[in-house]
Formats: sequence, C-alpha cells, structure tokens
Amino acid sequence: MNKFGAASLAALVSMVAWAGQASAMISSPDTVRVLIVYHSETGNTEALAEAAAEGARSVEGVEVSMKTVDEATNADLEACDALMIGSPTYWGSMSTPVKQFIDGQRPFMGDKVGAAFATGGSDGGGKELAVLSILAAMLNNGMIVAGPHYEESGFRFGSFGVAATTGVDSPGLDEAELRRARLLGERVATVAKRYRGSK
Ligand SMILES: Cc1cc2nc3c(=O)[nH]c(=O)nc-3n(C[C@H](O)[C@H](O)[C@H](O)COP(=O)(O)O)c2cc1C
Repeated sequence: MNKFGAASLAALVSMVAWAGQASAMISSPDTVRVLIVYHSETGNTEALAEAAAEGARSVEGVEVSMKTVDEATNADLEACDALMIGSPTYWGSMSTPVKQFIDGQRPFMGDKVGAAFATGGSDGGGKELAVLSILAAMLNNGMIVAGPHYEESGFRFGSFGVAATTGVDSPGLDEAELRRARLLGERVATVAKRYRGSK
C-alpha cells in the first residue's frame, strides 16, 4: 500500500472509531431512563443511591443518572421513565431538602415508576416512615410505585423500599443493605422497561 492508501485507511479507521463512540453517547428512543435523586450530608444515602444505580444499570437498555436534590431539574423529571428518591431520616420523616425538592416538582409524573430508600441512625428511628412519606407523594403525583420483589431477592418478607441503619445501632451500611438497594434499583428498571414495552 502506498502512503496515500495508508493515510486514507488511517482516516477511515479513526472515523469508524469516532462514529462508534458517538453512537454509544446517544441513547436510542427505546432507552429506559432511571433517575435517582437523593439528599446526603454525610455520605450514607449517597452510598445507598450508588448501589441502587448499580442495580438499575445491570438491566439491559437502561440508562441511569444520579443527581442530588439540588441538581435535579424539572426537565430531568420529565425525561425519566422511573424515579428513585433517597433521603436520610430526619426526625422520623424525609429530610427537609427532600421535601423541598418534592414540593418544587412541577411535572405530572403519572405513568412513571417510583421507589424510595432511606438511611437512619437508629433501628426504630423512622426510616420506613421516611420511605412511606416519599411513596405517598409519588402516589399523589400519579406514579406507579414499586417495592422490592422479595421472592426474587430471597428475603422472607417484603418492605416498602430500602431502609438502612447507619448509626449507633448498626454502624455503617452493611452488605445486606447495599444488596437490597441494588435489587430495588434492578426491580425499578425492570418494571419501567416492561411498562414502556407494554404501551
Ligand atoms: C437533623 C437530623 C435528624 C435526624 N433524625 C433521625 C431520626 O429521626 N431517626 C434516625 O434513625 N436517624 C436520624 N438522624 C440520623 C441520620 O438519618 C443518619 O445519620 C443518616 O444516615 C444520614 O444520612 P447521610 O449520611 O446521607 O446524610 C438524624 C440526623 C440529623 C442530622
């Protein structure tokens, strides 16, 4: 091959590589979008959000984005197929920044799948109330609420979402709590994908 042929080949190879990268960045219209919005001051709820994101990402054709309550916009809410909200438990309920985020929502979220998770310092400190308060707002906004699939996850009983203890009763998030968050993320993505496919 002469030097012009080699140069043309090199140009072709780099164009193909560029096109491959570009198509990987542009999601198809069939892509199911899971948005995870959370508030976290000391990192616990963020770690649970990351585990939920990992689970959702494990479902093929699903794109996941994670945003704090300060970063997420109404456009993000409109664009998603499923929304997971995570909150630290503050005085037995969702934290004020999460409540402000929910109260500031403008889009009608009907036909979107929703789920919630919370961390809390103590065993009986109200983590499930925090989860339920988020789910109540989702139901009020017409969302289809999904809880963990306890048969698939191998747990004996179901729960409202994921509630992890981080304080004196059980310091730090443990592997079982992170696994529950991954499974909830996976479930939300699966339900959203099935629902999108049925429309
Ligand atoms: C103002 C405030 C109120 C809290 N109230 C509760 C509570 O009612 N129940 C509980 O279990 N933990 C409570 N906690 C502990 C947090 O929920 C817990 O540390 C949580 O994991 C923090 O999440 P983060 O690391 O994502 O910020 C409270 C913490 C703060 C700062």
